[in-house]
Amino acid sequence: MADTCYITTPIYYVNARPHIGHAYTTVVADVFARFNAMCGRDVFFLTGTDEHGDKIMKAAAEQGVSPKKYTDDISALFKDLWARLNIRYSRFIRTTDEDHKRVVQYILAKIHESGDIYFSEYEGLYCFGCERFYTERELVDGKCPDHETEPEQIKETNYFFRMSRYQKWLVDYITENPGFIRPEGYRNEILSFLKEPLEDLCISRPKARLDWGIPLPFDENYVTYVWFDALVNYVSGLGYPDGDNFRTYWPSANHLVAKDIIKPHGIYWPIMLKAAGIPLYRSLNVHGFWKVDESKMSKSLGNVVDPLELMNVYGRDAFRYFLCREMTFGLDAGFSEKSLVDRINSDLANDLGNLFSRVLAMTEKYFGGKIPEADLSILPDTGMDIESLAREAILEYERHMKGFYISRALEAVWSFIGAMNRFVDYTAPWVIAKDESRRGELSAVMYTLLEGLRIVAGLVAPVMPDTAMTMMGCLGARVDENERFSLESLKRWGCLPAGAAVEKPKSLFPRVDVKEKKNAGKPAPAAADDDRPGMDVKPEIDIETFSKVDLRIGRVLAAERVPKARKLLKLEVDIGEVRTIVAGIAEVYRPEELVGRQVVVVANLKPAKLMGVVSHGMLLAAVDGKDGVLATVDKKAKPGTVLK
Ligand code: ME8
Ligand code: MG
Repeated sequence: MADTCYITTPIYYVNARPHIGHAYTTVVADVFARFNAMCGRDVFFLTGTDEHGDKIMKAAAEQGVSPKKYTDDISALFKDLWARLNIRYSRFIRTTDEDHKRVVQYILAKIHESGDIYFSEYEGLYCFGCERFYTERELVDGKCPDHETEPEQIKETNYFFRMSRYQKWLVDYITENPGFIRPEGYRNEILSFLKEPLEDLCISRPKARLDWGIPLPFDENYVTYVWFDALVNYVSGLGYPDGDNFRTYWPSANHLVAKDIIKPHGIYWPIMLKAAGIPLYRSLNVHGFWKVDESKMSKSLGNVVDPLELMNVYGRDAFRYFLCREMTFGLDAGFSEKSLVDRINSDLANDLGNLFSRVLAMTEKYFGGKIPEADLSILPDTGMDIESLAREAILEYERHMKGFYISRALEAVWSFIGAMNRFVDYTAPWVIAKDESRRGELSAVMYTLLEGLRIVAGLVAPVMPDTAMTMMGCLGARVDENERFSLESLKRWGCLPAGAAVEKPKSLFPRVDVKEKKNAGKPAPAAADDDRPGMDVKPEIDIETFSKVDLRIGRVLAAERVPKARKLLKLEVDIGEVRTIVAGIAEVYRPEELVGRQVVVVANLKPAKLMGVVSHGMLLAAVDGKDGVLATVDKKAKPGTVLK
């Protein structure tokens, strides 16, 4: 029987629309699923939505619709986004699905019977935003660290899950199984949290307060706490307790989450499984956070990045590539549209796209668009062995992919692409082609390049499935549908059949002209993202840095050309005192036009000598060759007035 692989994403809350963070986790899970399928494993990929609890009730109430209608709508947004992003999940689970609810109740009953659930009165600090009690030491300045609001003191009788009983067992388990929580840093975070005594988990909410939840099987006056409900999706989605999928896939379970929810996944969940007598999952894989301008994405900051818009503008493969390449697994990453455009232009259009179209164009030109018959022993001596480089790239790729280090796997592929580009330059097929006696060498070079591209197409397939299909199609790779992307077939050098027709060169990734692009994905028209000509986006500065610039209104008293300098004018400017300023505007303004004009002067610029004249300041102007404008003010103002 084939090896199996089970991969999950968190089930996302439906209290808000999907953003780039959700897209990242789901794309990574999809890449992992496709990679494992490529390795010949039988894969099950589960994603879905988390639909019960206070948060959702409130969000529905705000919109004035029933929770059912509300969850249907938002859940559909997630589902729709995944379809557009080419996410190939096996099941989309909703916690409002009937089979899920039954499993939650089954597990609750089981744990209750075994004595790990007790009823008790509890008084404590409760954050309604988080839907949980906080201990004093978890608060920051008396406030919930997440919502920055003071929790309320409430007293309730509730059901509690005896987690404390399993603390020692869990510490031992994590210590003995180094790959259980990864990367290492997050494992240490969980272990260090477990140094403090673990409190029992309150797993019920009185129906009087909240009825949008799954009723406890042993007390109808209560519903299940959302986290207990949500975590169970990972087994209910497989048809636990006696579904075939559960038996087949659960032993190879890999969970994928971001660092925000490691506690429920690294502590509650293993203990729940243990208490219910279910074997533990294989690994918990934790990634960092996407940030925008160094800060958290939030509705109130208005900086939430919409994946759908980005995908519509840049294409889904390019967007998937960017997500996977830009974030190092485990660490935070900063999003900017500029970094996305840079990646597309350099990695995709330049490195990969150019190589692909060059090689196909040469095949067209020198071999009439057919893959040449080649004797690879007569390659010209370049000191490069593309075949071994391909093999090494595949091994490195495989090693990184297994551990979710997709960015590193892609680096290995791109370093191979770089080698292929150098190989083209070193062998210079266009030179060999001029010499009829070197026809054999030309065939060997071109075959090597085409075969190298087949490997690249296969390796990028999990990240860019559409591109891989296009490439394989163009290369005339007659590997059958299932074989097409198998890692085994990539490890076999020389699979491309001689004589097969390659297709006309295609531009895989057109370069993105920054000037044409709108502010996709970013709601606020921030100046730095404007698309008018000449916008060179400089790094952000804070107000303090800016306030170091002494800007003043000046009046031009005199102007003359600087001898032998085509572009320079020497001006006398009154800025409260008279300054000599040299400005590069002679091709735009005649000296006599300027006298009497109001200008804006940088008064504290270090003096500089230009064509023998010392300039004590600078005029603000936008000059590009013979075009240009001078900054001025719209009313008459006193020379020396400070601008800020
Ligand atoms: O926590 N960067 O749902 P959720 C990267 N329903 N990933 C991010 C991110 C960011 N800025 N923001 C969110 C819940 N994510 C629960 C989960 S599971 C049994 C229940 C991603 O909608 C990341 O995967 O708040 C994170 O763990 C998840 O969305 C949280 O989604
Ligand atoms: Mg969240």
